[in-house]
Amino acid sequence: MYIYKAGVVGAGNMGAEIAQVITFSGLPVVLKDVDPEVVNRALARIREIYQRRVEKGKMTAQEAEAKVNLVTGTTDYELFKDVDLVIEAVPENMGLKKQVMRELDGVCPESAILASNTSSLSISEMGSATRRPEKVIGLHFFFPAHVMKLVEIIPGLATSEETLDDATGFAESCRKIPVRVNECTGFLVNRLLLPYLNESARCVMEGSAGVSEIDQAAVAFGLPMGPFTLVDNLGLDVSREVGKVLLESYGERMRPAELWTAFYEAKLWGRKTGEGFYNYRGSETNRADEVIRTLQARFANSQSKFSIERIIFPILNEAAVCVQEHVSRAVDIDVALMAGVGFPQDKGGILAYADQIGLDVVLQMLEKLTRECGDRFWPCPLIKRLVGAGFLGVKARRGFFEYSA
Ligand SMILES: NC(=O)c1ccc[n+]([C@@H]2O[C@H](COP(=O)([O-])OP(=O)(O)OC[C@H]3O[C@@H](n4cnc5c(N)ncnc54)[C@H](O)[C@@H]3O)[C@@H](O)[C@H]2O)c1
Repeated sequence: MYIYKAGVVGAGNMGAEIAQVITFSGLPVVLKDVDPEVVNRALARIREIYQRRVEKGKMTAQEAEAKVNLVTGTTDYELFKDVDLVIEAVPENMGLKKQVMRELDGVCPESAILASNTSSLSISEMGSATRRPEKVIGLHFFFPAHVMKLVEIIPGLATSEETLDDATGFAESCRKIPVRVNECTGFLVNRLLLPYLNESARCVMEGSAGVSEIDQAAVAFGLPMGPFTLVDNLGLDVSREVGKVLLESYGERMRPAELWTAFYEAKLWGRKTGEGFYNYRGSETNRADEVIRTLQARFANSQSKFSIERIIFPILNEAAVCVQEHVSRAVDIDVALMAGVGFPQDKGGILAYADQIGLDVVLQMLEKLTRECGDRFWPCPLIKRLVGAGFLGVKARRGFFEYSA
C-alpha cells in the first residue's frame, strides 16, 4: 500500500515532532488537536526544526518552507477523509486512546491504517475499539522524534501481516529504523531500560556510588548519557508512569526503586521542572542531595558495591528474556538499543556484548549479583541453556549469534 497522505492526532510533544518527521519524507500530513493553541505551537515547533536545518546549511529556506507547507493544522476530522495512515499521539490513557481510535474508524477511509504512538498500552485493546483491528498497529517513536532513529513496530493480536509490512515501509520512508516488537508491556526499549535505571537508583540509595559518578561510569562505558541525565531529560513523571505499568505486568524484578517516588514527590522531575538529579536553574544548591541523604538514612548498606556490570547486566538479562519470549529477534534487540538508546556501536549491542564477554562468564556474573543483590538478577533460563549447550559466544563461535571462523 502506498501512503499518499498521513494524519497525526494529538499535537503535543510527540505529535508535533512525528508530523515533522513525516513531512521530511515529502508526505502531506494533517495534524489535529483539541486545542487550537496547541496546534499553533506545534506548527511553530515544526518550523523551528526546519529553521535549524537551514541555519546548519542542510537545506535552503525555500526547501524548508515547502516542507512546512506540507502540514495542515486542524481541530476537526474534516481533512481525515482521505488519509492512508494516522498516528495517534494523545495522552497515555486507554479510555482516551480507544475513543480516538473509534472516532478515526468512523472518519478515515476503510483502507487506512490506524497507528498508535503509545509507550505502554495494549495495541490489541485499542484495535478492539474499531471495526478494523487488522489495520491497527503500534508505531512507537522515541523523543525527540526528529532525532531518534528507532521506531518500534508493534502488531496487536489481530494486526495483519500486510499492515505490519506497510507500517514498516512507512517508517523506512520516514528514514527511521523500524524494529518489530511483539506486543508485551513496555514493548522493547522501555522494558530493557527500566531495570538499568532501577539498579542505578538502588546504588545511590544504598550509598555505593553518587549520581554523577554513576552517570560518568555509564558514559565511560560508551552510552551517550548516564541513567540520571537520561531520566532528567525524559521527565521523571513520564518514566515513573512506565515504571508502574512494568511492575504491574512483571512483578518484583521490575519494582521501581523508592528513589523515584521520593524525587517525584519533591517535584524534582528533571529539566521540565528546572531541577532533578541535576540543577538546570544555574543555582549552586541542589535539593537532590537532601532527598538522597534522607533516602540513605533508610537504605544505606555498607556491603553494597557499585560496578558498571551491576547496572548494565540487568539490561542484558532482560534482553535474554525478550529473546526467550520471542518479543524480538536478538539482532533486532541489538539494533533497537543502538538506535533507540545509543548503546555503544563498538560493542555491537547488548547481546553481541554478552557474546564477547562469554556467556559462561555472564552466567557466573549474574549468579554472583543474585547472591549479592537479590533475585532480580536471577539468570534468564535461556542463558543457562546456551551455556549448557556450549554456545558460549564469540569464543565458541556461537552464542546469541553465530560467528564464522
Ligand atoms: N513524551 C515522550 O517522551 C514520549 C515518547 C514516546 C511515546 N510517547 C507517547 O506519545 C503519546 C503522547 O505523548 P506526549 O508526550 O506527546 O503528550 P502531550 O501531552 O505532550 O500531547 C498530547 C496532546 O494530545 C492532545 N489531545 C488530548 N485529547 C485529544 C483528542 N481527543 N484529540 C486530539 N488531541 C487530543 C492534547 O491537547 C495534547 O496536546 C503518549 O501515548 C505517550 O506515551 C511519549
